[in-house]
Amino acid sequence: MSERPGEKIIEEARQGEAMVLDQKAGSKKLYIESYGCQMNFSDSEIVASILNNEGYSTTDKIEDADLVLLNTCSIRDKAEQTVRKRLSTFNKLKADKPSMKIGVLGCMAERMKANLLEEEKLVDLVAGPDAYRDLPNLVDELDGGRKAVNVILSKEETYDNIEPVRLGGNGITAFISITRGCDNMCSFCVVPFTRGRERSRNPQTIVDEALDLWQRGYKEITLLGQNVDSYLWYGGGPKKDFEKASELAQASAINFAHLLDMVADAVPHMRIRFSTSNPQDMHDDVLLAIARHENICNYIHLPVQSGSSRILKEMNRGHNREEYFNLIDRIRKIIPDCGISQDIIAGFPTETEEDHQDTLSLMEYVKYDFGYMFFYSERPSTYAARNLVDDVPLEVKKRRLNEIIARQQEHSLYRSKQHIGRVEEVLVEGESKRSPHQFYGRNSQNTVVVFNREDYKPGDFVLVKIENCTSATLLGTAVNKVEKA
Ligand code: 5AD
Ligand code: SF4
Repeated sequence: MSERPGEKIIEEARQGEAMVLDQKAGSKKLYIESYGCQMNFSDSEIVASILNNEGYSTTDKIEDADLVLLNTCSIRDKAEQTVRKRLSTFNKLKADKPSMKIGVLGCMAERMKANLLEEEKLVDLVAGPDAYRDLPNLVDELDGGRKAVNVILSKEETYDNIEPVRLGGNGITAFISITRGCDNMCSFCVVPFTRGRERSRNPQTIVDEALDLWQRGYKEITLLGQNVDSYLWYGGGPKKDFEKASELAQASAINFAHLLDMVADAVPHMRIRFSTSNPQDMHDDVLLAIARHENICNYIHLPVQSGSSRILKEMNRGHNREEYFNLIDRIRKIIPDCGISQDIIAGFPTETEEDHQDTLSLMEYVKYDFGYMFFYSERPSTYAARNLVDDVPLEVKKRRLNEIIARQQEHSLYRSKQHIGRVEEVLVEGESKRSPHQFYGRNSQNTVVVFNREDYKPGDFVLVKIENCTSATLLGTAVNKVEKA
């Protein structure tokens, strides 16, 4: 993980990261590069695990690879352009090594399907997010000299019995995916088209994975899903079919608050985070679970997208401005020191200057700890692309985005200053980029804390007295270590 505030949805520093697993002598070599959200990075670990069973070991030297995979993102046009550029550099490599096979995985594979093979002649394999169990067969087809495609979306697949391999991590924090897909249909968003219907993973396998990570020395897990608060296990299958399940299955179903209880009790000495929360699905039971368990971090990533109720309606968000404010008030009441972060889109179709001011005033009310801000990028197939005109000029989108970013920086500094003078528990993740004599870690609210390393080590929980700050980082002095187990 990089030294940054917040668990980024799209973490810039990790884009394109190559992932490496223990080497096995004499085996075929896989090079896998990942783009997009945490879920995609987590999926690459599933892919490496599946192909490892087929005799592939991972390499970070692309020239050595027999199979090159790009796990791609489609969320904004820029994400796709990055992948296109990357593919064009692969052209040269393939000229030197024609036996090298190139595959595209993930959201762009799902969105483009077989068209990707037409448009990008060097691509041999296309596999969507629910097709990774089929990779061994697809790779066999390549060996027969054919091209291979599987972009079938599943209503059940959660990869729950695949033992994940942990790639490129710090050995201290890990992701566990708990839901796949999304049923929200926000009008700007490509995800429901690329990742299919929402389904939840068997809670016992989630608990088992958490226990396994704890036994292997991990100290923090982040439960991942496009909409974690909507988690609902009733024996498997899509969320939308819950009403059709038997009375018994419905009565014994497990929701997100219940899952949090299960995980928090199973690994009481591990920190638990989760992402992403959608306002319309976050209810008091989840807030009470966070408040009840000391080991669930006081931090909620709660995208708002816009502060204007009219735009929120056009976005098909399930909440308006007032409902969002009510939720913020409930969070502050139930978890008084909760860190809150946002995603905001500037320049959605028809957004006026007044709508934009509504976004700024909403930010003023919440004063978020961090934020991830973007200008609107029209995505093919979405409701907005089919029904609305992308009518806000690029320079206006960019100006509004800059105003939003500037406001967020003020608020981040305001929130950082509130930590000064407090003694906070920090989980040490590694050496600070500023100095080899300093460590960095995060407090419960997910803000980065930097302090002199002394005799502490990564993985320690350390009480740190916060003495100074920038807008993104807290600076302090270690007081003592907290013994957990
Ligand atoms: N244009 C710009 N930003 C988008 N996001 C999702 N779709 C788009 C789009 N078409 C942003 C949202 C979401 C985050 C993951 O990416 O803010 O919460
Ligand atoms: Fe993740 Fe969305 Fe990008 Fe797919 S499109 S990789 S779900 S951010």
